[in-house]
Formats: sequence, C-alpha cells, structure tokens
Amino acid sequence: MTDLFRSHLGDTPLSDEERRDLIPSLSTQRELNEFEFANIRSARDWARQPRRLAKADITSASYLIDLHRRMFNATWRWAGRFRTTEKTIGVSPVRLQSDLGALLGDARYWLEHREPIDETAVRMHHRLVYIHLFPNSNGLHARLVADLLVQKHNRPPLSWGAGTAATPVVRAAYLAALRQADQHDYGPLFTFARSGDLGS
Ligand SMILES: Nc1ncnc2c1ncn2[C@@H]1O[C@H](COP(=O)(O)OP(=O)(O)O)[C@@H](O)[C@H]1O
Ligand SMILES: [Mg+2]
Repeated sequence: MTDLFRSHLGDTPLSDEERRDLIPSLSTQRELNEFEFANIRSARDWARQPRRLAKADITSASYLIDLHRRMFNATWRWAGRFRTTEKTIGVSPVRLQSDLGALLGDARYWLEHREPIDETAVRMHHRLVYIHLFPNSNGLHARLVADLLVQKHNRPPLSWGAGTAATPVVRAAYLAALRQADQHDYGPLFTFARSGDLGS
C-alpha cells in the first residue's frame, strides 16, 4: 500500500476529493515531500526578493492567497483556494472571509502601533492556522508568512525550534505551544519561534 497520504501529528487529513487534486503523478510520500518542497522553495525565493518584499502588503488577503497559490500551484489544484469543508482544526468554512478580515485588521493595528514585530508575526501565524483558510498546508504557509514579516522588518529569522518543525520532538513542542496560544497564552509560542535545536 502506498504511504502517499499518510498524515502526521497535528495534521488535517485530506478528503478523497482533495487527494484527487494532486497534480503530479507520484507514488510515495517521500516523492510528494520532495515535489512539494521544490514548489515551496520557488515561492519562497520569489517572495523573499528584497524589492518584492519591500513592496509586499503581508496584511492583505490577496497577498496571503497568492502566496499559498505560489507555494503549491504545481502540486495541488486547491493551491490558493479557500477550504469548503469542515476540518478537525479551523473555523467553519462560512467564517473564513470574516475571520481573516478580523485578523488582518488586528495585524495592521499591531504594525501601526509598533508592537514588537516578532510578536505580531507569531500572533498572525497562530491565528492563520487557527482559522485554517486552505484545505491543507496551512502550517507551512503560516510559518512562511511569519518568516516574511520578520524579514521585511529586518529582524533575524525565526528558528521554529530548529528550522522545519518536522521532527517529532519539535513538532510536539510546536503543537503544545499552539494549543497554549488557543487559550490566549502566547508565551510558549513566542519562545518556541525563537528557540533552537529542540530536535537533536
Ligand atoms: N491546536 C492547534 N491550534 C492551532 N493550530 C494548530 C493546532 N494543531 C495544529 N495546528 C496547526 O495546523 C497545522 C496542520 O494543518 P495543515 O493544514 O495540515 O498544515 P501543514 O500541512 O502545513 O502542517 C499544523 O502544522 C499547525 O500549524
Ligand atoms: Mg498537512
């Protein structure tokens, strides 16, 4: 049996329909990861170009949607499309637009009032995964959003517990910190975003 769609700790499983939206023909999860990673890397390189980043409005819905589309457009047909089904994480699909609007209003307020950039980035990250705009890959997208915001404001890169949030120890610490943030306690997630080497 193929492990192509095996899900991971804290992941939202794909529906059958969403699985059918895989664009390339692949048979293992490793191939999928490699393919997806190349797609993400090209989007990240695009987004991080200094002149483009200087102009980018990271607090606009169109930017966030375009970023997800660019991260996954060679991999998934649902790249850059809002979720239409319920998931184990995330608000009801009918609330996506309004909850995103509220988040972006808050984020603009934090930026205008010169709240610490790291905190704004981490709060945006958490609220994006809490809302869960897209059928999948919200975590990857929302981490890149936070990374771009800190880079745009010339802050050192976030470490996310050592880079990828992919190893089990890092993943567990990350999910625990997100759950604390769900309870409005952002301390652990602020610490996690700047912590290193939890995975070794
Ligand atoms: N309790 C939680 N509260 C908020 N966000 C969560 C919680 N549990 C998991 N998440 C986030 O949801 C993501 C899983 O959703 P998914 O769309 O599959 O993203 P990805 O595939 O990029 O991990 C996790 O990576 C994490 O960012
Ligand atoms: Mg996932």
